[in-house]
Amino acid sequence: MVPLKRRKMVHAGSLNTETNVCGGTEPTKFPQLVLFLLERKMGASRRAFLSQLGRRKGFQVDDLFSENVTHVICENNSGEEVRMWLEAQQRRQGELHLLDVSWYTESMRHGFPVEIHHRHKIQDVAVNAADVAPFSVPSYACQRRTTLGNHNPVLTDALSLLAEKAELSGEDGRGVAFRRAAAVLKALPSAVSNMSQLTGLPCLGDHSLKVIKDILKTGASSEVESTKASERFKELKVLTGIFGVGTKTADRWIREGITNLQQLRDSGQTLNRSQQAGLQHYDDINQPVSKAEADAIREIVERAVASVLPGAQTVLTGGFRRGKLTGHDVDFLITHPEEGCVVGLMPKLVCWLESRGLLLYQKTTRNSYLESEDGPGRPASNIDRFERCLSIFKLPTGGNADLQEAGEDSGPSEKDGAPGRRWRAVRVDLVVSPISQFAFALLGWTGSKLFERELRRWAGHERGMSLSSHALYDNKQGKYLRASSEEEIFAHLGLEYVPPSERNA
Ligand code: CTP
Ligand code: MN
Ligand code: MN
Repeated sequence: MVPLKRRKMVHAGSLNTETNVCGGTEPTKFPQLVLFLLERKMGASRRAFLSQLGRRKGFQVDDLFSENVTHVICENNSGEEVRMWLEAQQRRQGELHLLDVSWYTESMRHGFPVEIHHRHKIQDVAVNAADVAPFSVPSYACQRRTTLGNHNPVLTDALSLLAEKAELSGEDGRGVAFRRAAAVLKALPSAVSNMSQLTGLPCLGDHSLKVIKDILKTGASSEVESTKASERFKELKVLTGIFGVGTKTADRWIREGITNLQQLRDSGQTLNRSQQAGLQHYDDINQPVSKAEADAIREIVERAVASVLPGAQTVLTGGFRRGKLTGHDVDFLITHPEEGCVVGLMPKLVCWLESRGLLLYQKTTRNSYLESEDGPGRPASNIDRFERCLSIFKLPTGGNADLQEAGEDSGPSEKDGAPGRRWRAVRVDLVVSPISQFAFALLGWTGSKLFERELRRWAGHERGMSLSSHALYDNKQGKYLRASSEEEIFAHLGLEYVPPSERNA
């Protein structure tokens, strides 16, 4: 910003009265600000209109660009265009705010200069050619640090939607390809402005590149837009939104003419226990779980665990451990520092919760991986010890919610969606691990799903190892590699440690 003193000297008028080129003398309410509207793309008449509006509101809006200007307002200009124009003015950009017209119109509406947010700033202002140089990222997502914020949300949302479409159509390979492409863009240090920046990046196939190109060129991808509008896509999303319903079942129902929840209810289809619960609590389960709700459930689970096995530890895993603010469920991993202690823990835990009316549904399973697989990654002594429970919690809500309340509450307000209801249904995953496998279970249940997939791919392809949520097996040495922390597992794999908040691939 130009120091106030310097501006005072340049201007002839008093601090509070500026003579503008339009001739009118208006009081200036905000002497620190000198605005300039870029005519390019905005057009002369709109510029004149907006300038006068600003002056009427007490802003100083100069018609000529000078060193006094503190804020340049642009409409529909790319960062590159603004930079070129600025270079021609021979004034260094560092002293200036380069803002979108939205900041100006919001300020007009409020009658004062509103706070400058990221969305107001002109993006991708490249100061020198190095800023448009090609990006470079390592091939595997587990070699990268991927935070929740990302510089290319429009592109990553588009590719994620196409991944979802592929997954819903049973095309898992194609789904993974789109997920990998999206993950590469999530890891970029700034917004993509030109296709040439993508040269040499891993995991970007022709299809993904076409989608990116369309969006950079026209602002949208026709394939993404037509997918969003597609009836089949919408129907598959609704039906697979039912807990317990996968893509195969949804596809069969659609072929039988069942395309929405009401038709399903009316159809007399036989539903299994999880599908019945999923249909009954559909709205709750499809409403994102907040961090506050996750914390409330954590308190309940901790209390339950402490009461059935003193000394046992409960860790929040999944998306919430990665720092997400919402999730589709809440994931917990439970262990005990003494090996062998957790045997029989899950049934007791479920019993404790059920007796207090806190479970709307639960299904406990032994780990199928251990039952179905032979060979590496299967420590024989651990059969039956690694259990998980997929559940739907009845979470008490509202002011002085008490553990008992959910269970006691009955009558009309019991029904899902009923007014005055003081609970909500939340999907909760509980996993119990012996301490010897805890680090592997923690790494395996923290996600993201793609990060996990990439860790296993790295282990297999680059290290000749097999990684699971139970163990790490070195195929060359023919032995298991022990670890008591996630850091040790990354070290075994020859990877730099990536903390949970940077595993959002
Ligand atoms: N997971 C798993 N086996 C399953 C289901 C999940 O190992 N049958 C792992 C996933 O690999 C993931 C973690 O559990 O690392 C959490 O999965 P999930 O709850 O589906 O995803 P989140 O990342 O927690 O996302 P959200 O916030 O939407 O729940
Ligand atoms: Mn989760
Ligand atoms: Mn889960």
